[in-house]
Order: sequence, then C-alpha cells, then structure tokens
Amino acid sequence: MRAADAVAELTRDFAAAGFDSARLDARILVGHVLGIEPSLLFARGDTAIPMADLETLRGFARRHLAHEPVSRILGMREFYGLPFKVTPDTLDPRPDTETVVDAVLTLRGRTPSPRILDLGTGSGCIPLAILRHWPEASAVGVDINPGAVAVAAANAHALGFGAQARFQVGDWTNGLEGPFEIVVSNPPYITEAEYAGLAPEVRLYDPELALTAGPDGLAAYRALLAQVTGILAPGGQVFLEIGAGQSEAVARLAREAGLRLLARHADLGGIERCLHFAA
Ligand SMILES: C[S@@+](CC[C@H](N)C(=O)[O-])C[C@H]1O[C@@H](n2cnc3c(N)ncnc32)[C@H](O)[C@@H]1O
Repeated sequence: MRAADAVAELTRDFAAAGFDSARLDARILVGHVLGIEPSLLFARGDTAIPMADLETLRGFARRHLAHEPVSRILGMREFYGLPFKVTPDTLDPRPDTETVVDAVLTLRGRTPSPRILDLGTGSGCIPLAILRHWPEASAVGVDINPGAVAVAAANAHALGFGAQARFQVGDWTNGLEGPFEIVVSNPPYITEAEYAGLAPEVRLYDPELALTAGPDGLAAYRALLAQVTGILAPGGQVFLEIGAGQSEAVARLAREAGLRLLARHADLGGIERCLHFAA
C-alpha cells in the first residue's frame, strides 16, 4: 500500500468514528511508521509501506479507534513546536496551554534573566517551551508525581537543556527556595462532577491527579495561591491557566492572596485561558 492510500483509508475510518482531527491523526500515524515528517507526506505519497509497517499501522489504527489518543499511542506530543515525551504519569499537553507560554513570553525584554517556577509541571512542556524562546531565563519545575518529574527531566535532556532547567518533586511551593520573578501554573481544575462526564480519550489516559481539583475545581488554585506570594520576588508576576468560566472565581482568590490582576489572555477558541497577576 502507498502512503497516500493509507492516509486516505485511515482518514475515512477515523472520520466515520466521529474524530474531529481524522486527517491529521492519519498523517501523524502514517508518518510515524514510515519515519517521514507528516507535513512532507503530501510530497511523498507514493512511498510504499512495507508489510511489517502496515501491520504496525493497523495496530495503531485499532487502538485509536478504541479512543486511545495518537499522542498516547506514540508516547509523544508536539507542544509549541517541540517534541515532548508523554507517559501515563503526565498530562497530554494541550494546545490551549500554549496561550500561557505566549503570555509569559510577552515579558521578554522587560525582565532581564528571570527565575521561573512552574507548579504542576507534568511533562515540563511549559517551562521548556518558554526557555527555548527565552535563553537568558532559568526554570524550576515542580510536580507532586515523581513519575512526571522524571519525564520532565528526560524531556529537558532530550531538548538539550542543562542546568538552566531543573525539575523536582514537591507539593506546590513547599520546601522551595525563592525568590522567583515569574511563577506559572496549569494546575488541575476540573470538578469531580465534570470528571465523570469526560470523554474516554481524557478520562482513561490522562492521570486523574492532573485533572481533578475538588467539588468546585478550585482546590488547587486555593492551595497554591495561599503559598505563592511567599516565594515571589518583589514585583514578581504570576500566570495561571484557567478552565472555561473560572476567570472571576480565580481572580477573586488571587486578589484575596494579595495579587493584582494585570491581564486576561484568551485561547484560539476565544475562551479566557490565562490570567496574569503581579505581586
Ligand atoms: C493540568 S496538569 C498540568 C501539566 C503540565 N503543566 C501541562 O500543562 O501539560 C497538573 C499537574 O499538577 C500536578 N499536581 C497535582 N497536585 C499537585 C501538588 N499538590 N503539587 C505539585 N503538583 C501537583 C499533577 O501531577 C499534574 O502533573
């Protein structure tokens, strides 16, 4: 079978199963088995798929049709143009979270060489994407899950970061030495009720620890906001990812913690996704 035919066949199957990104998923899987960049498959559509690779591809397609995300099948997700290893210990980084990276990078040029703290770092995608575009900065990523910290450290190594990026196990800021000029976090923010109704792609494959935050989805914001001013440098800035509809509640919690709201950033879908505060 040719690459172009495999892409067409898988696109048809995934679309029939109701998957929104059917063509992209098909191109990523076919590109992976052939070792060809998905964006180059158009030009190389005539490439023949060897029988063994076709078997692998059909196995991948069966798993995806059973709702396993492509990133979980390949153990890899692209975020901010960089490849990140993902495992069952890490959240699958979401495109919405790129809004947080964009927001932090608006400070480039205004803060010379900031120390950045990422709370709940998962795969390390947020601080590593920031550092790639802000080489004068340094970052510490903290996660309560040692498995996630190991993945973040492996991603830092694979992307060529040395001492500039450090990862450690911790419960929010407990035991951390500040001060940090920038604190960023995409904490768990899903309510217990919402969790039960999540799509199987999320509920079965993302770690629950990365998703849920008590009955109102605000427990992690309460916990980390109660601590964050203790490790912020004077005039330090805080960037929080928020879920749809959480803007007012999180802004109120931050105000109570002594932070001033500077800006709200919407994601590509127009949903307020990141709040920017100053001490
Ligand atoms: C929504 S995920 C975000 C992961 C990553 N930053 C991203 O954007 O893809 C939240 C992360 O917070 C971590 N976490 C949950 N409770 C924590 C706590 N008390 N202290 C530190 N990290 C925590 C989870 O293990 C998970 O990796």
